Amino acid sequence: MPITTISTIAELRERLDRVRADGGQVGAVPTMGYLHDGHASLMRAARADNDVVVATIFVNPLQFAEGEDLDDYPRSLDHDTELAEAAGVDFLFTPSVDEMYPFGPVLTTVTVSEVSAGWEGITRPTHFAGVATVVAKLFNITGPVHGYFGEKDFQQLAVIRRMVDDLSFPVTVVGCPIVREEDGLAMSSRNVYLTAEQREAAPVLRGALDAGLAAIDGGERDPNAVTAIMAALVESEALAELDYVAAVDAATLATPDRLSGEVRLLIAAQVGKPRLIDNDGVTIH
Ligand code: PAF
Repeated sequence: MPITTISTIAELRERLDRVRADGGQVGAVPTMGYLHDGHASLMRAARADNDVVVATIFVNPLQFAEGEDLDDYPRSLDHDTELAEAAGVDFLFTPSVDEMYPFGPVLTTVTVSEVSAGWEGITRPTHFAGVATVVAKLFNITGPVHGYFGEKDFQQLAVIRRMVDDLSFPVTVVGCPIVREEDGLAMSSRNVYLTAEQREAAPVLRGALDAGLAAIDGGERDPNAVTAIMAALVESEALAELDYVAAVDAATLATPDRLSGEVRLLIAAQVGKPRLIDNDGVTIH
């Protein structure tokens, strides 16, 4: 069926209640818009698993701190609608800030401690509470059986998984692989901020992940040795300012004494205006 755009909670609920009353399962793909192939891959995964797919586009003020790019976050509703329709989305939910937060500042928030504290949480201490709160709200509005999120925001995925487990949301969280440009740069709505020169430098993050993975493949099990190799590579690129590199346990995001089991390499660097993040995983037997 052609895509239907809905901007009120009441109307979306009514339409999705009808789907559920007829025995249909809903899959939800929360996004902030300015959609790219990474989002399309989440939508296609949702299309394959569910009777009805709802994608949400909401630039959530709660997850932006003062001085971040809330006001100039890129937006492109026409393009987004086309992309979502081509990926098989049935309903596009595009609420306003007033629709989502009609009473002004929210008094009820969801905080997933510990998993939110390190890495991104150090530079963005209020970010994950904003994400968890809006995702909880979007789950309550859309009532999905499955919720789809990209592995690119690996810490966000870990936070959402933990929130769903801790609060017993009846939702299965599906993490989808990172979609990359040909030169390895992870797709992100914020890549649009890169100048041509910075865009050329940006794949250094992918290069650092590859160097870390190669070290592990070569038998290195000391997380500090792995991250030193990754950091040296990023520091060799003048346009990239390293924020952090980490070799962590994929579930807890804590740094172990020795790498084993499911390991995730995380990296964040400022490249011009955007702060880019990336990650990759390996299983050590
Ligand atoms: O990943 C995003 O685009 C956002 O953080 C999300 C999950 C849609 C919540 O606003």
